[in-house]
Amino acid sequence: MSNAAAPAREGPDRSDAPAHVAIIMDGNGRWAAARGLPRAEGHRRGVEALRRVVRASHELGIRYLTIFSFSSENWSRPASEIGDLFGLLRRFIRNDLASLHRDGVKVRIIGERDGLESDICALLNEAEELTRDNTRLTLVVAFNYGSRQEIAKAAQKLAREVADGKRDPDTIDAETIGVHLDAPDIPDPDLIIRTSGEQRLSNFLMWQAAYSELVFVPIHWPDFDKAALESAIAEFARRERRFGGLVAKTAS
Ligand code: IPE
Ligand code: IPE
Ligand code: MG
Repeated sequence: MSNAAAPAREGPDRSDAPAHVAIIMDGNGRWAAARGLPRAEGHRRGVEALRRVVRASHELGIRYLTIFSFSSENWSRPASEIGDLFGLLRRFIRNDLASLHRDGVKVRIIGERDGLESDICALLNEAEELTRDNTRLTLVVAFNYGSRQEIAKAAQKLAREVADGKRDPDTIDAETIGVHLDAPDIPDPDLIIRTSGEQRLSNFLMWQAAYSELVFVPIHWPDFDKAALESAIAEFARRERRFGGLVAKTAS
């Protein structure tokens, strides 16, 4: 069934909400540059946008929200900017963990933890531990994350199982690889949003994005808000998802 004839709507209602929205939060630096501010201020305002979007995700009935917070390739930025980004993550967890927990948010972290400073690892573990039984919204933070690295890690785990005589190589298929990724229990994203106008994945969830709908919005991340999220969801609701078949499935 096509959505083309559906009546025009102001914004999405809860039934339109995709179960899993993933966001490439891009454009903090450009937001700051446009205002003559340091990039760090863009990142700081980006955290405020994140708070807004977590709240809006609850309200819109989204079950999983994944956010790209620091990529494996972001290590190529100046040390001072990396320090700012790590400082913001520390502060976000210290300041917001209690209220996320109160709101029923379950925090999950994907990405490489080996090599991170021990206090960051402790905070990430604390966030996951404290919120592990929450069920309202799962917030997946992709930190020090790269999709190629995640897939390579899965390949390593499988190779080790084969080397240890625990697995027949012929049993390795797409599903086996999927369950060796960082968060195998979380469904693939239905909708991936990238802010700031760039139209690429930048090594984000490339395996999981096989059938995600991609929406690129021109807004810089610090300006992103509930209305922008609703409009991306409305765009998603207009898409026909076919998953390789002939019959369109409803968007969510
Ligand atoms: C997103 O904003 C934050 C991270 C990548 C960590 P950017 O810092 O990439 O901002 P632009 O793309 O330079 O404007
Ligand atoms: C992607 O943004 C990474 C995050 C949002 C954390 P980048 O700004 O690093 O991506 P490129 O370099 O423009 O592709
Ligand atoms: Mg960027």
